[in-house]
Amino acid sequence: MRKRPSKPTKRNTVAGRPKTNRRRTERPLAKAARRLKESEQKADELRFRLEQQSRVLDVTLSHISDFAYILDRDGRFVFVNQPLLDLWGLKLEDAVGKNFFDLNYPRELAERLQKQIQTVFETKAGLTDETEYTSPTGAGGYYEYIFRPVFGRKGHVDLVAGSTRDITEHKRVERELQDARTDLERKVHERTAEVRHANESLRNLSARLLNIRDDEARRLARELHDSVGQMITAISINIATVSSEVHKLDKRGADAVTENLTLINEISKEIRTISYLLHPPLLDELGLQTAVGWYVGGFSERSNIRVDVDMAPDFGRLPSELETAAFRIVQECLTNIHRHSGSDRARIAIVAEAGRIVVTVQDWGKGIPADKLLRVNAEGLPGVGFRGMTERLRHLGGSFRLESDGTGTIVTATIPVAKSLLRSYV
Ligand SMILES: Nc1ncnc2c1ncn2[C@@H]1O[C@H](COP(=O)(O)OP(=O)(O)O)[C@@H](O)[C@H]1O
Ligand SMILES: [Mg+2]
Repeated sequence: MRKRPSKPTKRNTVAGRPKTNRRRTERPLAKAARRLKESEQKADELRFRLEQQSRVLDVTLSHISDFAYILDRDGRFVFVNQPLLDLWGLKLEDAVGKNFFDLNYPRELAERLQKQIQTVFETKAGLTDETEYTSPTGAGGYYEYIFRPVFGRKGHVDLVAGSTRDITEHKRVERELQDARTDLERKVHERTAEVRHANESLRNLSARLLNIRDDEARRLARELHDSVGQMITAISINIATVSSEVHKLDKRGADAVTENLTLINEISKEIRTISYLLHPPLLDELGLQTAVGWYVGGFSERSNIRVDVDMAPDFGRLPSELETAAFRIVQECLTNIHRHSGSDRARIAIVAEAGRIVVTVQDWGKGIPADKLLRVNAEGLPGVGFRGMTERLRHLGGSFRLESDGTGTIVTATIPVAKSLLRSYV
């Protein structure tokens, strides 16, 4: 059983006295008043803190060299920090509420900025861009700016916060660097062209030298054959005359005449050979096939190296420059085979194909040492022979290939020939 409520006890009294009605209504009021005061104090404090924060923000943003600002939905300035105001030469109250058009930005730039602000509001994403700008005060430069969305409670973009950095110096350095790079590229280009030009003239020069050498050899060969050869013939006729009177001489005289006759015949043969090697008259008169045949015959006889020649019987004629080039290549290769290869046989093939002549000279000797081959292929050609061949071929627009190992060497020279020429010559 619950106990009945007892009479007021000491616990229900204030300072030992029982409560009155008045006191009962006063208490909540006082409480409410106290609460009101407290919340007023809190609001005051909050207001103070807010003001303080905004002052701190203002002071902070005004002491950085970058421009900081806030824009509303219409692209009007809500806040502008001091450096940007200084750039414009305006007071805060003259700038707040204005847009880029009001602030006399160049029309095109104002339109672009306005559009970008709208983009940030719509896409809720920030953006970065660059622009050149000169303020009405005359100050200005090249700027990089960033627009960022400031979100409200419902996730909408309330404002756009912007910051702008002066990158004039950066741009200047960048431009200087770019200029320097362009300048360098131009110089490299010029130098390359100069080197190419020098190479070209060197090549032309060496081609001309080869031609001059060919002409010289042809002239010398003719000279030897015609003038020296004629004189030798005259001498041998004279000696023959003397030898018919040899009985009038003593033994020493008679022997000398006989010996002279033999010597003069030798000289005559020698001069003919030298003259033909210098420039086989057959090359001009009868063409490559006959000249190669003649040369190979003499070569095999002198060197004991068997040479097979593979050339179509109806090879025909080519322009003299090409015939000389092909002949000289064969001559140089056979000389190399004799001097360096140790091979006892060689094969020459001269084939006319679509638009080109291919000359192949092969031996089965010891091959070109690897280091030399490397240098030859890297165009640091060691010998005069290969270099001459390469130059000759380059001048004719042809190419040169060298394959060599312990089993032998193959030289392949390709000379382009106009198809029309091939048809009429070959
Ligand atoms: N058929 C070959 N077999 C072996 N070695 C060769 C042959 N042809 C050329 N060589 C090597 O390549 C070098 C370069 O040849 P070349 O340019 O004709 O110069 P050269 O004959 O004046 O030495 C020769 O010195 C020789 O060592
Ligand atoms: Mg040689």
